Amino acid sequence: LIHLLSIEGLPRAILTQILDTAGTFLSVNDRDVKKVPLLRGKSVFNLFFENSTRTRTTFEIAAKRLSADVINLDIAKSSASKGESLLDTIANLSAMHADMFVVRHSESGAPYLIAKHCAPHVHVVNAGDGRHAHPTQGLLDMYTIRHYKKSFNELTVAIVGDIVHSRVARSDIHALTTLGVPEIRAVGPKTLVPGDLREMGVRVCHDMREGVKDADVIIMLRLQNERMSGAMLPSAGEYFKSYGLTEEILALAKPDAIVMHPGPINRGVEIDSRVADGPHSVILPQVTFGIAVRMAVMSILAGNDA
Ligand code: CP
Repeated sequence: LIHLLSIEGLPRAILTQILDTAGTFLSVNDRDVKKVPLLRGKSVFNLFFENSTRTRTTFEIAAKRLSADVINLDIAKSSASKGESLLDTIANLSAMHADMFVVRHSESGAPYLIAKHCAPHVHVVNAGDGRHAHPTQGLLDMYTIRHYKKSFNELTVAIVGDIVHSRVARSDIHALTTLGVPEIRAVGPKTLVPGDLREMGVRVCHDMREGVKDADVIIMLRLQNERMSGAMLPSAGEYFKSYGLTEEILALAKPDAIVMHPGPINRGVEIDSRVADGPHSVILPQVTFGIAVRMAVMSILAGNDA
């Protein structure tokens, strides 16, 4: 593995290697993440052309825990605002001896373009590109599911919300499929849950109760207002009535179901605060696991240097 651009097409053995490696970075209580010298002397450049709280910060923490030098380019204050192209920006950062680019971009495919044009020793990690993929989120979601459910092969996983615009949903579906989850459901209104997901083996449910019934894992997604035009955008109140996760709806799932969300959450739109902050929620552990999973990805990529 030279770059991590998508989960699609990655074999189960690689996904498992990443999850197992992440586990080695966590302490026995799964709260503390160890510091190790695996990326000492390497420079990791965080290039976030789209906003982020969790991904950007956990990549920075992960790189620092691997003892790398971390450079966060402030895109808003960079010369991209003066018209410098993406590839010229990359060429100049490469001249500063970058070893790894962590890239988030609103255009699907931008990390692929960078991977195609950067020097052979440089690694690219996709930190979310348009609606296409968010592979490290998919991996940290898999780590979370395995942590709480131990194995994948008897699970029902419901992904609920704005799936059509969600790179997280796409990465999760590829990972869940590869890891052998027998029932993956996509739940939401017709405008936000494309029927062609059935071709990927996903059960499409437009009824929230049907979608959540007997689920082991519920992954809630926010409405991606920034990727929707006016006509498509449901009102927050109406949406919550039909697809919001409340305690009453959650009671339809298995008694030990876990509730996940990649964040940011919109309380009272896709999820009730009593659920987001309740005993089934593993939303904050997901964030902590994200540090270890990103360490695993970066150390495995760097380990492939000749
Ligand atoms: N889950 C996620 O990608 O969150 P951020 O947009 O805050 O990075």
